[in-house]
Amino acid sequence: MKNILVFVGSLRAKSINRTYAHALEKLAAGKLAFTYADLDLPLYNDDLWSSPPAKVVTLKDQIKAADGILFVTPEYNRSLPAVTKNAVDWGSRPFGQSAWAGKAVGITGASPGSIGTAVAQSQLRSSLVILETHVMGGPEVYFTFKPDLIDDDGNVLNDKTAQFLTGFIEKLADWVGRYGS
Ligand SMILES: Cc1cc2nc3c(=O)[nH]c(=O)nc-3n(C[C@H](O)[C@H](O)[C@H](O)COP(=O)(O)O)c2cc1C
Repeated sequence: MKNILVFVGSLRAKSINRTYAHALEKLAAGKLAFTYADLDLPLYNDDLWSSPPAKVVTLKDQIKAADGILFVTPEYNRSLPAVTKNAVDWGSRPFGQSAWAGKAVGITGASPGSIGTAVAQSQLRSSLVILETHVMGGPEVYFTFKPDLIDDDGNVLNDKTAQFLTGFIEKLADWVGRYGS
């Protein structure tokens, strides 16, 4: 089974993106094993590399060790949240020592709005491409979160939604199998 490091770009306890990630984890049972990265990191500061924060060292080790990465990102003001971007930036440095190159990556995200994080995902994709990851091109899943679709424990309550999200997970498993390192 492939190990997936999951980046949920929200720190709040009742994050819909965390609930959505838990739903994906349940649908991935037996195919992919999810580990959740701790993104409650200091803001990126180049000066801190002289004595790097333990959480940053752990995160970089986890990225390197993972078979694949899954971003589950909210959208803030038609962009990606600082929490998500901060983690991407920490993983990319010190210069020449990026943890990202060659990693197989999937992107998704949830919002209550109808465009379901499309803009945030697009901007995140741009950063991950320049970091030489293998970003899965499709299917794109811009998830409009509604409480009647997923309960608080991450159970998908609607068969069509479960089928659709299972398709995304199967594609991700295939992608990580082909391009994971
Ligand atoms: C600062 C801020 C900006 C937001 N901007 C957007 C936005 O551009 N597009 C959108 O769909 N939702 C936007 N939202 C609403 C979020 O989608 C919503 O708060 C969502 O629950 C955040 O994800 P989380 O529950 O995982 O924390 C914004 C929320 C905040 C706090």
